[in-house]
Amino acid sequence: MSESEVKQHIIQLRATLEKHNHAYYNLNNPTISDFEFDKLLKELQMLEDQFPQFADPNSPTQRVGSDRNEEFVQVAHKYPMLSLANTYNEGELLDFNGRVEKLLGRSVEYVCELKFDGTAIGITYINGKLERAVTRGDGQKGDDVTANVRTIKTIPLMLKGNDFPEEFEIRGEIILPHSSFERINAERAERGETPFANPRNAASGTLKMQNSAQVAKRGLDCFFYYMPGANKLQDGHFESMTHARNWGFKVSDEMKKVGSIQDVIQFIKYWDTERYKLPFDTDGIVVKVNSADYQGELGFTAKTPRWAVAYKFKAEQVVTRLLSVTFQVGRTGAVTPVANLEPVQLAGTVVKRASLHNADIIAELGLHLGDMVMVEKGGEIIPKIVGVDHQQRGLGLEPVVFLHHCPECGTALVRSEGEAAHYCPNENSCPPQIKGKIEHFISRQAMDINAAEATVEQLYNSGLVKNVADLYDLKFEQVVALERFAEKSARNLIDSIEASKQQPFHKALFGLGIRFVGATVAKKLSEAFTDIQSLSTAKAEQLTQVDEIGERIAQSVVQYFADERNQLLIQRLLQAGLNFKSDSVKKEALSNAFLGKILVISGTFVKHSREELKEMIEAHGGKIGSSVSKNTSYMVAGENMGPSKLEKVIQLGIPILSEDQFLEMINKD
Ligand code: IVH
Repeated sequence: MSESEVKQHIIQLRATLEKHNHAYYNLNNPTISDFEFDKLLKELQMLEDQFPQFADPNSPTQRVGSDRNEEFVQVAHKYPMLSLANTYNEGELLDFNGRVEKLLGRSVEYVCELKFDGTAIGITYINGKLERAVTRGDGQKGDDVTANVRTIKTIPLMLKGNDFPEEFEIRGEIILPHSSFERINAERAERGETPFANPRNAASGTLKMQNSAQVAKRGLDCFFYYMPGANKLQDGHFESMTHARNWGFKVSDEMKKVGSIQDVIQFIKYWDTERYKLPFDTDGIVVKVNSADYQGELGFTAKTPRWAVAYKFKAEQVVTRLLSVTFQVGRTGAVTPVANLEPVQLAGTVVKRASLHNADIIAELGLHLGDMVMVEKGGEIIPKIVGVDHQQRGLGLEPVVFLHHCPECGTALVRSEGEAAHYCPNENSCPPQIKGKIEHFISRQAMDINAAEATVEQLYNSGLVKNVADLYDLKFEQVVALERFAEKSARNLIDSIEASKQQPFHKALFGLGIRFVGATVAKKLSEAFTDIQSLSTAKAEQLTQVDEIGERIAQSVVQYFADERNQLLIQRLLQAGLNFKSDSVKKEALSNAFLGKILVISGTFVKHSREELKEMIEAHGGKIGSSVSKNTSYMVAGENMGPSKLEKVIQLGIPILSEDQFLEMINKD
């Protein structure tokens, strides 16, 4: 293939991948299998590696983000980012309609939309390509968060069709769907971090993260609702947004054009109850005059458009009695308090329990047993207590105190400095921790053993399985003798356990449930160490040399393997035949230029992205270090390398390679 043919092919691959991406994420209608998609993506990645001159920040390969650490640059908005006037009842909406009709001297069509509860974003496209994404900031200027926004899969990097303006801005709301919110908070709780209060905070916090590779994993989404200045191209707002939808933007299907304010009120009534069925938060309805001409005539006040208004839903809140607080112990030993409430109707369901998260939240609320508490339904499936009605507090109520001992095994709880959660340290004999560990071990992401939670409970209660190694000693006769088991189900379980022995090293490692070793970290560790033996004897300094492994993870790994009981467990798992070795079919090395060497990358580069450099290092036998130490062999330095890092490199006498010198060493330019 000639260079220009390669370029054409790259462009075509990108367009194809974007089309499938749109079908998958925006239309929920996949047009290709995951396997085929990955194959095309890999082909594109390979071509982009080989032909860096055709690199493009809007390539679908860039959706994974990067770990570049950059402060955000402030950018002025071309059109100020205004907010909306709020209304809270029918009367105020009728007043809004009255003002509009008076100013225009006629009645108008309105567009009704959901008011998405997230964080606003303005994205500029030039020639159909995503150019820049800026947050609201103070309304006049905001932060350039383009790198993070590029990782959001529903946001098009390249537009479809050809009838879009050469340059235009589109605005929308970046949100975190409930499912992602629950997952992130569960992960935070497990790490002892304070959970996000609601999906809105989580969305804006995520958008401001410094590491776009982390953002990519969070599951943000975006609905678009406004194109400043673009209405003049179309009859009205509804028509502009319909065009935007055709170009690939996610415009809510709930958007509706109506003929009168009475229809608007009907729309609001419908969503006041239906909103709880949506997979994300809305805090109201936005009403917009549709016609472009009338919008122009109505114009803006200093803060808000005169042609639009928000109707805010009342936060659904009820008052009920706090009956008791129970404490649940999770797989990692984290103790979570749960409020048991007098059952009460809230937003279409009966609420009996509310999460309290941790001791700080109990203290902040000043909860007493028997208090009348305000309960609200936010983004979470489980509602939360937002306050106490002090006027209704009876005499002599006892304050809620956090436990000092584990409710399951009686061990004294510990709370480490800087952590929000209390832990039960008795990880090897505390029943819910053991069951939790077994459940984690057999989960899909780990050993993928086909057994329900009730089965784990049964195996544990019967005394047959007290740790994950016991699973491999189970005999068919023992299982079939258990209640509710038949020949077939017992056989299936035994077969599934047997099959799990073939799971790759990284899954088995993840399955051990070492604190802070999630699926990604397990993968990194399994790539850096050939087998569990070498990992188990690694010192913290060796571990932190591995890409993405910091001090906290390293300490946790060392601590895990220092425990004799864990060593014993691994011995048994090895004897059972589990796969604790790296795949022998490693990516074939291109050369040994960096064999046994550890390279640290810092700064920004001209010819290649950091991801590309990392892959090149690995392909030539080297390893990537996350921080500079005496073990670092080379520092690959780009522009704007941090001064403290540079000083350390010089102090330790580590050779510095420029991007070109590095490429020369592997005979590439
Ligand atoms: S239109 C000039 N439409 O709510 C008017 N805003 O409280 C531009 N929001 O600033 C905004 N959903 O961040 C519009 N369907 C929607 C919206 C929406 C959420 C946000 C947006 C806005 C804020 C006002």
